[in-house]
Amino acid sequence: MAVQIAPSILSADFARLADEVAAVADADWIHVDVMDNHFVPNLTLGLPVVEALLKATPLPVDCHLMIEDPDRWAPGYAEAGAASVTIHAEAASAPIRTLREIRSAGARAGLALNPGTAVEPYADLLAEIDMLLVMTVEPGFGGQPFLDVVLPKISRARDLIKGRDLDVWLQVDGGVNTETIERCAEAGADVFVAGSAVYSADDPAEAVRSLRAQATRASRQGA
Ligand code: DX5
Ligand code: ZN
Repeated sequence: MAVQIAPSILSADFARLADEVAAVADADWIHVDVMDNHFVPNLTLGLPVVEALLKATPLPVDCHLMIEDPDRWAPGYAEAGAASVTIHAEAASAPIRTLREIRSAGARAGLALNPGTAVEPYADLLAEIDMLLVMTVEPGFGGQPFLDVVLPKISRARDLIKGRDLDVWLQVDGGVNTETIERCAEAGADVFVAGSAVYSADDPAEAVRSLRAQATRASRQGA
């Protein structure tokens, strides 16, 4: 699969979201971080803002739910029109049911793992998902340094996906920038979330293009 870049609007200007998403028009996704101040120590936005964003951008919206009780809330994001909805393994009580509900509402279903959560216990769930998100920072804030310690897990996740012959995308999120994206691509990631690396750049559109070019080169070398 071609490399995909998903700018995270967590680092955008929340008072100008429509302009901020328009500034990355050739990105593959808009990544939206939903935080509830319980699962993570930060509060961002919820369904009403996602609904407004869906009207403001032609790009597919990727909702990353860092919330407690995703079983209750996640299907609503899919029903609203988010093209991808990701729940955290650590927060879900009935992940299989919830992932199936996301899919039956017409969205891609994603499962996220915190840096300290091993991938192996979720090997059998890979058949239920369209994307695995391996967090490369502790979730909650943009602009944190990339955790190299997670790289072996990215490789093991890629091997598990390959071994089962599944078409599951492997997303990385947190500290992804020009210094770290190649290591992620070499380890097997193919969807790259970047918040501060895109929105702190003078030219966010150019930042998206150059991250994509870098990841594409690195993933070919690693292939
Ligand atoms: C962090 C969020 C990320 C965040 C990444 O919990 O899930 O999506 O926006 O920001 P950067 O790319 O700045 O690390
Ligand atoms: Zn995120």
